[in-house]
Amino acid sequence: MIGKILGTGSYVPGKVLDNNDLAKFIDTNDEWIRERTGIVKRHLIEDDTTVTMAAEAAKRALENAKVSAEEIDLILLSTVSSNVILPSTACEVQKIIGAVNAVCFDLNAACSGFLFALNTAQAYIHAGMINTALIIGAESLSNIMDWQDRGTAILFGDGAGAAVLAAEEGHIFPTVMHSDGAKGDALLCQSRFRREQSTSLELKSGETDIPGTAGFPVDTYVQMNGQEVFKFAVRQVPLAIEELLSACDKTTEDIDLFVLHQANKRIVEGVAKRLHMDMERFPMNLMEYGNTSSASIPILLDELNRQGRLQKGMKLVLAGFGAGLSWGAAYMEW
Ligand code: COA
Repeated sequence: MIGKILGTGSYVPGKVLDNNDLAKFIDTNDEWIRERTGIVKRHLIEDDTTVTMAAEAAKRALENAKVSAEEIDLILLSTVSSNVILPSTACEVQKIIGAVNAVCFDLNAACSGFLFALNTAQAYIHAGMINTALIIGAESLSNIMDWQDRGTAILFGDGAGAAVLAAEEGHIFPTVMHSDGAKGDALLCQSRFRREQSTSLELKSGETDIPGTAGFPVDTYVQMNGQEVFKFAVRQVPLAIEELLSACDKTTEDIDLFVLHQANKRIVEGVAKRLHMDMERFPMNLMEYGNTSSASIPILLDELNRQGRLQKGMKLVLAGFGAGLSWGAAYMEW
């Protein structure tokens, strides 16, 4: 059995921050950001949360797939920036959309998250454990940005994307996934949990509060060595795609579209160049949304789908890369 994408959905918040807006409070400018990244604007949450965006993208994907929430066996949600730690973001989405028969959990593989979730759902389907999966990438990265750091604040945005996957007869395609934790320092976000008082849990007679349990994360923001991440992406993504195509017995010429994680226009161009491919096969929407981490691939996929650019039988390669470091690629026939 193989999982086939029956429908897609996405949601981005309405508030837009363009490069000129950013230049009002960071030492940067529109020309520099466009030239070095391709990004023109990003959408940021106001009243939305990771959960509400994920639920909206999920509803749109179910509608597009013509699948009811009750038919979903698995909700697999990728995020690094949820507004909830417990319960899982996936369970919160389940509650909102009424997917009462689904088992739900979150997955953190940063910007490779949607790709890893897709591959995981495929494995569940292939093993006969489930029939229908809802996979979601959702991020409120604006909550974990240091808005004074021009090396990161210019790059990221908020949003969510989703896809409904259903089992059908067919051979599962090989996938490629890699991680290199030893290089994780290049892109990280560390939670510093604060304890308000002592760490002692001993209660004195008459005390109602438990000292040391009022912890919550503070100063949690993304830190990055931009050049290192850039070099990693441009080197590893083409290798992963070549590894994937060889395992699938395909060549780059067979592929209609390469749907890459939307981090930086120059990274996408660098990957295309190393694969000796025309940029026409590398759709991009990072100009509008910036880097939305695990939401970027499903948002782009949904846009292509709704624009009618994905015809039945088209051959796609999806590729993700990011913190971990982690990276990978998947082949699919639409
Ligand atoms: N605005 C204006 N100038 C900036 C700037 C900004 N936002 N950020 C850096 N600069 C300046 C630097 O201070 C430096 O100035 P100098 O030459 O006078 O010293 C110059 O621009 C070049 O800086 P550098 O850091 O070498 O820029 P870069 O070309 O590497 O671009 C990134 C920086 C972050 C855009 C780029 O490294 C990148 O996109 N990396 C990948 C990041 C990524 O995609 N991460 C997520 C992966 S999932």
